[in-house]
Amino acid sequence: MTRDVVIIGGGVIGLAIAWELKLRGADVTVLCRDFATGASHAAAGMLAPDAENISNGAMLSLCWRSRALYGEWTRKVEEITGLNTGYWPCGILSPIFSQQEQSYTYLSPSSRESPAFWLDAEVIKQYQPGLSEDVVGGWWYPEDGQVDNQALTQALRTGAMTLGVEFKDGVKVEAIAQHQGKVAGLQTNLGLIQADHYVLATGAWANELLPIPVQPRKGQMLRVRVPESIAELPLTRVLFGQNIYIVPRRDRSIIIGATSENVGFTPHNTPAGIQNLLQGATRLYPALQNYNIEEFWWGFRPATPDELPILGASHCPNLTLATGHYRNGILLAPITGKLIADLISEEKTDPLLADFHYSRFQVQSSTTTQMLTHPANFTNGHHNHLSLSTSEETIPDSQLIIAGKAFKSRLMTGTGKYRSIEEMQRSVASSGCQIVTVAVRRVQTKAPGHEGLAEALDWQKIWMLPNTAGCQTAEEAIRVARLGREMAKLLGQEDNNFVKLEVIPDPKYLLPDPIGTLQAAEQLVKEGFAVLPYINADPMLAKRLEEVGTATVMPLAAPIGSGQGLKTLANIQIIIENAKVPVVVDAGIGAPSEAAQAMELGADALLINSAIALAQNPPAMAQAMKLAAIAGRLAYLAGRMPMKEYASPSSPLTGTISA
Ligand code: FAD
Ligand code: GLY
Repeated sequence: MTRDVVIIGGGVIGLAIAWELKLRGADVTVLCRDFATGASHAAAGMLAPDAENISNGAMLSLCWRSRALYGEWTRKVEEITGLNTGYWPCGILSPIFSQQEQSYTYLSPSSRESPAFWLDAEVIKQYQPGLSEDVVGGWWYPEDGQVDNQALTQALRTGAMTLGVEFKDGVKVEAIAQHQGKVAGLQTNLGLIQADHYVLATGAWANELLPIPVQPRKGQMLRVRVPESIAELPLTRVLFGQNIYIVPRRDRSIIIGATSENVGFTPHNTPAGIQNLLQGATRLYPALQNYNIEEFWWGFRPATPDELPILGASHCPNLTLATGHYRNGILLAPITGKLIADLISEEKTDPLLADFHYSRFQVQSSTTTQMLTHPANFTNGHHNHLSLSTSEETIPDSQLIIAGKAFKSRLMTGTGKYRSIEEMQRSVASSGCQIVTVAVRRVQTKAPGHEGLAEALDWQKIWMLPNTAGCQTAEEAIRVARLGREMAKLLGQEDNNFVKLEVIPDPKYLLPDPIGTLQAAEQLVKEGFAVLPYINADPMLAKRLEEVGTATVMPLAAPIGSGQGLKTLANIQIIIENAKVPVVVDAGIGAPSEAAQAMELGADALLINSAIALAQNPPAMAQAMKLAAIAGRLAYLAGRMPMKEYASPSSPLTGTISA
């Protein structure tokens, strides 16, 4: 067993690990630059896997397991310290305003392990008096709850000290010194600190020490207080609305949160941030407008590209990672402490840890041969500094972001035209794609090849892009887009608002209608969709669509299904030059060389279906397209040599010996 462990970071995650390791008999030291600046201090303390609508299966299991530990875990901390943690399994109410939101939330997941109950307008208002008149119903999540995160971190720290954990405050780790593949020590402002084992638990600051993709996501908060004139607590359960939550504490304070801002480590509260919070909160629970405001603050959530934490082993055998807990670090503290302590002290690896391993963001520096033999191994993972790597060189890349969602792969595929479902499944797998487009109408009517599609792909791993294929008018496309959103929700993608917009009136050439597409896009953007419009390669139309707020533009390279290649190259080039949203080249690509060429030009991504499905060996072609997309992207980033009119010798002529 590892006896001597140093934990970098004294937020709730570092503290929970210190606590569990100490209980298992290790010597533990916690180094922390500043205890009060972490997200753990700034949080709201909700224990809310259900209200937060977590859709990733492994993450949901992790959260549920942690929530189940909370009662006993806090009881033990309270017993040892005599301090209250404010743990309160009060349940969370999630009121809904509009009919539209309501129809979607009828699909809210409910399970035996964690039931959810729909309350209609009358019942919810009886259940929680004082809600806005505009509330039309809501979900009740009885298993969710809260803890007073500031009280909890204080109690955990006191408890850990009581058990014998050593705390070194004001110590900043400046670098992790590595030697022969192991951590040799930590360079700090107090000199070198060494141990048998190290844990990185520095929250949003993790990538100051290691190249792991953790970024700050700022949240602003405020606190009001229930006036003394009100005898009983008016709120006894958390209210969780759209972009707003209200967390009543037993001490009569009420936390209101939170913004979610991608502004790096920009400090301070802003008028816009606070205004949004006050507006959202008083709309949900109007009485708040007369309560005293006590405090404003902000904090930085540790966010990863897939919004899942990074837990477990690192590239060094004596360094363990525990960061990236994003919106749920308070909730996840007990399970993180347990799993990490089991791993370090007993070398016990819980199977769940596999889903949170840091390597999911790594590009394997594999050779092409390895990629060809093990296609599943080559995930061109990315983060802020995605790397595309050859066996020798690494080129930094940015991730493909569509409507705020990050994707590792730049190749999207479809499900149509395959000879069998099984062939489609193998092709999707070997394409390495993360986005698969699905024709909503064909799934709904169970058209040939579209039966069983819901079960055929793992929608926890693949992001569904519902498309409006078969729609001839804007009205039809809007209707089908709404159905598509429900379809994605039914498959567990609660937050999927993507739609590939196709308005195609002409059955012969299958050319999209620019006016109908623009009209439908405008409406769908207003309804909150992330619209990915399929268009002819028309730069002016692309610009207009971008202006109405579409998430991408998807110009066709040649008529759908024709495999004619890059017929519209010149126009696609203009679109790429001017677009501020991702340009996805769609339709017409027939061969990997064309896919690579489109990416070389600077397209952000490709959508390829027929060229894969109609190949003689679709899974092999899917793999070829994957490699072509990677090669093209790498070439684009590497920068092509300039073309010259005349030959230029490969070897320099200077310094040659003349006879
Ligand atoms: P932190 O608490 O940020 O701690 C990291 C610590 O490491 C800091 O103290 C920092 O000073 C220290 N450190 C960093 N770099 C170094 C270094 N080089 N050397 C030494 N020390 C260093 N989660 C929930 O579960 N429920 C909620 O309701 C909730 N609400 C939230 C609301 C807001 C506004 C925010 C910002 C977050 C919220 N969260 C919530 C998320 C949760 O707070 C975080 O996921 C969690 O606190 C992360 O804990 P941590 O210990 O990893 O990081
Ligand atoms: N979990 C609440 C937040 O991060 O704001």
